[in-house]
Parts: sequence; structure tokens; C-alpha cells
Amino acid sequence: MPLRSMSIALPSILVLLAACGPQQPQSSAPPAASEPAPPAVPAPPAVPQPPAVPQPPVATVTPAAPGATAAPPPTAAATTAAHAAGEKVFRTYCLTCHGAKGEGDGPAAVALNPKPANFATGAFKYDTNGNGIKGDVEDIKVIVHDGAAKHGGSPLMTPWPMLSAEQLQAVAQYVKAFHAG
Ligand code: HEC
Repeated sequence: MPLRSMSIALPSILVLLAACGPQQPQSSAPPAASEPAPPAVPAPPAVPQPPAVPQPPVATVTPAAPGATAAPPPTAAATTAAHAAGEKVFRTYCLTCHGAKGEGDGPAAVALNPKPANFATGAFKYDTNGNGIKGDVEDIKVIVHDGAAKHGGSPLMTPWPMLSAEQLQAVAQYVKAFHAG
């Protein structure tokens, strides 16, 4: 029955046109009535946008603070900025356990066993890179990133993998500076 096959063929042609054709005139707009119709409502793009490549999740990296350029030459200003960045991370994530001065006496530390290290006296336990020096900036970075449990320590010191490389560096230097300063 010809009518029937038309009714099947037509939609598939339309689909084809829509899928690969450039802008086809919209057939859906009814012919305007006698009076000049207002310019037909701008047709939505005829071709449905193919979802191209599956988008990878954007912005997994925390955008750097405005003005904080990545890895500037070590000037005094950059050092200060890194210190401020480290302080911000520390106050946000670490202070509750490690205490404002890094003495391991934050409000949550009472309940902890083992206690957090006293950074102020340089009483570090971990030498993750095995260079014979406990608690250098690299060791601190590894412990903060991995958590202590991975290095034979307490799971109370959880991993902080969400910190950016810059934040990790900054907070490690901040932790280190409790002792040096
Ligand atoms: C829930 C409490 C808690 C929080 C929050 C916490 N820590 Fe810890 N941290 C600990 C404990 C407890 C230890 C001791 C682990 C051990 O001895 O095995 C520790 C150990 C460490 C060490 C190892 C020191 C050493 O002995 O060599 C570093 C470095 C450290 N923390 C840095 C941080 C930083 C930086 C943050 C924030 C990003 C942070 N911690 C957040 C509880 C915490």
C-alpha cells in the first residue's frame, strides 16, 4: 500500500536530513496566514547537536587563586604568597587536629591516639623518601597526599588527594616552617 510505505519512508528521510544535512528549511512552520506573519519564530537549530566527544569532567583542578601565578620565580613576594596559601590550606583542613601552631593540640586532637606530631619541635616520624631526614618537605607532601596509613602510620591522618600540587607544596612548607620559625 503506497500510502503506508510513504508514512514510513518520510520520517526516516527527515531523520536522515536532520542527521546529516545542513540547515533544512523547517517544514513544521505552517504557511503564514494572509497577513504578513511576524518573522517566523527563529527555528531552533534543525540539526540536533551531536554530543561530540564525551566531555571529560571539567575543572577537577581547583582554580588557582586569582593573582597566584603558578611557579613564579622564588621572589620574596612569591614566598609570601605561598606561605599565605599554605596557611589557608592548613587552617581549612589541618588545624582541627594539628593545632594553630602545629603543636598537635588542635581541638580534635584530644580524642586522637596517636596524637598528631608536634611540628613545632620538629618531631616528625616519617622519612618517606628514605633520605635519612625525617619530615623534610618531600616527606610531608607524601604523607599529606597519601595519608599516614599507607606508610605504616595511623589512618587518623587521612589522605588529602584533593589538594593541588601547589596547595600540597604550600602546606608542606607551612608545616615545615612551624619548626624553622
Ligand atoms: C583527623 C585529624 C587530622 C587531620 C585533619 C590532619 N591530620 Fe595530619 N596527622 C594526624 C595524626 C593523628 C597524625 C599522626 C599519624 C601517625 O603518627 O601515624 C598525623 C600526622 C601528620 C604528618 C606526619 C608527621 C610525621 O610524624 O612525620 C603530617 C606531615 C601531617 N599530619 C600533616 C597534615 C596536614 C598538612 C593536614 C591538613 C591537610 C593534616 N595533617 C590533617 C591527624 C590529622
